[in-house]
Amino acid sequence: MPLTQSREITAAARLENVRYAIRDLACVAAEVGKQGHKILPLNIGDPLNFDFQTPPHMIEAVYKAMRQGKNGYAPSSGIPQALDAIRGAAVRKGITNIQDVFVTSGVSESVDICLTALLNPGEDVLTPSPDYPLYSAVLAKLDITLNTYDLNEDDGWQPDLDDSRRKLTPRTRGIVLINPNNPTGSVCSRKMLEQIAELARRHNLIIFADEIYDKLILDDDEHISLASVAPDVPVVTFGGLSKNYLAPGWRIGWGIISGDATIIKPYVEGVNKLLRARLCANHPEQYAIQPALEGPQDHLIEVRRKLRSRRDLTVDWCNSTPRVSCVSPRGAFYAYPRLDIPEGDDVFVKELLVQKHVLVVHGSGFGQKPGTKHFRIVFLPDEKTLTAAYAGIAEFMSARYGKSI
Ligand SMILES: Cc1ncc(COP(=O)(O)O)c(C=O)c1O
Repeated sequence: MPLTQSREITAAARLENVRYAIRDLACVAAEVGKQGHKILPLNIGDPLNFDFQTPPHMIEAVYKAMRQGKNGYAPSSGIPQALDAIRGAAVRKGITNIQDVFVTSGVSESVDICLTALLNPGEDVLTPSPDYPLYSAVLAKLDITLNTYDLNEDDGWQPDLDDSRRKLTPRTRGIVLINPNNPTGSVCSRKMLEQIAELARRHNLIIFADEIYDKLILDDDEHISLASVAPDVPVVTFGGLSKNYLAPGWRIGWGIISGDATIIKPYVEGVNKLLRARLCANHPEQYAIQPALEGPQDHLIEVRRKLRSRRDLTVDWCNSTPRVSCVSPRGAFYAYPRLDIPEGDDVFVKELLVQKHVLVVHGSGFGQKPGTKHFRIVFLPDEKTLTAAYAGIAEFMSARYGKSI
């Protein structure tokens, strides 16, 4: 008899805490799909699933790069013309004191590298609750205990600074701010950014400013980069092509490290060590960065017009539906309505999927204050699709919970 292994190959215990509700739910959806139902996906923030297209001049640039043989490895930090363009765009947003710029496979890889380069066992960073689950997943992978600060629903989902101060420990090294926010769509005021910068100054923190949606501001607000209000404070600003430039499948993101040069130097070296260890980001796609940032921006006018109309439709529906209420999103393409229902939001989401084939993500997948329930809607689909989805949700709710509260 040939020898066979009898013991299971177990996964690392720390993976118990890696959760990514947005994609995890896709497994349940696949089952519903197999039964022949067409699912309305309001769960994943991919504009290319709907009536949005990558600007053609960016596609041309990548195609040309491939044709010209730019298919080998790139420099670990990224190709020079892309780095110059990212730096130039950052300067136009008022970011000074830039100490380093690097390109990664999506902001996802930037976040992974930047948190890995910072944290020793036993240390932590403050992350928002609710948060985009990438942060908690990377921290779980690093075996770092989550330390969350609340976003305040009663204050338009702005960061609760008192809660942030309460949560600081002697081992807190940084704070994450997602602005515009996923999942709530909130946008921070200059005053809020200044207060966060002051918190960082006082407690020697580095700020991770995730600004991947910075061009998707839906009203008349101005998006202000956190790094621009605090040139002395160590800040990593994240951006990329996935959302503003409608190319999520290319996996192109970047980080801009700013702040006092002497203070940030060892950290910059650490980040670069990790950038080298993973060789480089996707190469030909980097040739789209300069055309994206410096070329025509016309697509954004149309994108924002569509998103504004879809946001309005979403908020009107929320505010006219019993048991649902919503802070109006001001940026990105997510709404995070509150539910007043007698069961968990995870049950709500699963049953809605099984019965009405509408896929949203439960608030407990993002984090929320105990006792509150939410779900996240991606309002990227066109008005007709959204109207059908909302009619399905309303029907489901009135059958399950009654017509009024
Ligand atoms: C706030 C936020 N950060 C980062 C990402 C990941 O972006 P990328 O596609 O560049 O990895 C997303 C994707 O949805 C996001 O919402």
